[in-house]
Amino acid sequence: MVLITGGAGYIGTHTLIELAKDNIDFIVYDNLYNSSKEALKRVEQIIGKKITFIKGDIRDIDSLKKLFNSYKIDSVIHFAGLKAVGESVAKPLKYYDNNINGTIKLLEVMSQFNCKKIIFSSSATVYGDPKIVPISEDSQVGVGLTNPYGKSKYFIEEILKDLYSSDNEWKIVILRYFNPIGAHESGLIGEDPNDIPNNLMPYITQVAVGKLDRLSIFGDDYNTHDGTGVRDYIHVVDLANGHLKALKILDKINKVEEINLGTGKGYSVLDVVKAFEKASEKRVNYKIAKRREGDIAKCYANPTKAKKLLNWEAKKDLEQMCKDSWRWQSQNPNGYSN
Ligand code: NAD
Ligand code: WQD
Repeated sequence: MVLITGGAGYIGTHTLIELAKDNIDFIVYDNLYNSSKEALKRVEQIIGKKITFIKGDIRDIDSLKKLFNSYKIDSVIHFAGLKAVGESVAKPLKYYDNNINGTIKLLEVMSQFNCKKIIFSSSATVYGDPKIVPISEDSQVGVGLTNPYGKSKYFIEEILKDLYSSDNEWKIVILRYFNPIGAHESGLIGEDPNDIPNNLMPYITQVAVGKLDRLSIFGDDYNTHDGTGVRDYIHVVDLANGHLKALKILDKINKVEEINLGTGKGYSVLDVVKAFEKASEKRVNYKIAKRREGDIAKCYANPTKAKKLLNWEAKKDLEQMCKDSWRWQSQNPNGYSN
């Protein structure tokens, strides 16, 4: 049985579907801080079976022990974490406590129960402002990180490597996600930000659905083809499938493997706006605003390691990502709280 921490969230829910399609047994553990039971109900609707869900926090050792005592957990996919970059600058201790302390507690309990297989959700943010794009896994990490969220991911990667050095029985895969967007094709699940979205795609979809007035494009004077920032947008279903593929190789690895999950293609903010307008047949009102602090010009993956090691590659293009994001948003203007 695979334990999915943070399994009620955006990437977690999509991953549950990929696991279910492959008949893999899982249990979801989530404190529902940034998600809802409704999301899991929708997954149940899609996969046609009940999900075992335990509400709990990864910092709660007793609750984790109870969980490991009650279920035969063989490996963990660890999504649980806070991810709002801006909030992490304002509340660093909250982020370090939740993400780092939470991960340490989880690893301690896993050790106690001799469960030593983990897939960790890291981020392309650990590369900072990369010297070369596309970014391969052996690029420098941890330098020039501008916010506690990104640093928490980098620190956890280091902790995992130290843990492996101390005990080679551990099987650890670090997945570095680029920019996940899109939603399951059913339109039943998707990204549901609590507040005004920080990320580009949910902001665009909320403008298109009439919840927000206008998108601010953060800078048009970057060294990119049209001056706006370039990122590697990856369909969340492709990303979710990468976890299934990682799970399959977990037993075979004999070092900590860091793997980029991206498409290898970079699109600018304006490229995304245009692609979204075409896919949704909606106009997206926007203005050019000043650069956002901490942003970089270009970030996209060299995904060849994932192809080689996991036999995985992203299949869905930007048009599909935009269509699916729009289907989710237009069918659920208020997310899960309809
Ligand atoms: P999300 O907020 O939708 O999901 C995270 C889930 O973890 C939520 O359901 C939340 O309730 C839960 N959680 C948070 N803290 C917890 C705790 N202490 N105990 C138990 N549950 C807790 O985010 P997501 O987009 O699905 O991201 C999943 C993971 O991937 C996160 O670790 C995130 O940092 C990482 N990641 C996300 C992106 C992205 O752009 N979405 C990019 C790179 C990495
Ligand atoms: C994408 C592009 C913005 C909003 C962040 C985190 C990273 C990972 C993914 C994880 C940039 C521009 C955005 C808007 C805009 N997170 N933009 N107007 O910054 O690449 O990565 O999310 O958990 O760790 O740092 O993603 O979607 O915020 O921005 O012009 O209102 O869109 O400047 O060029 P980012 P993003």
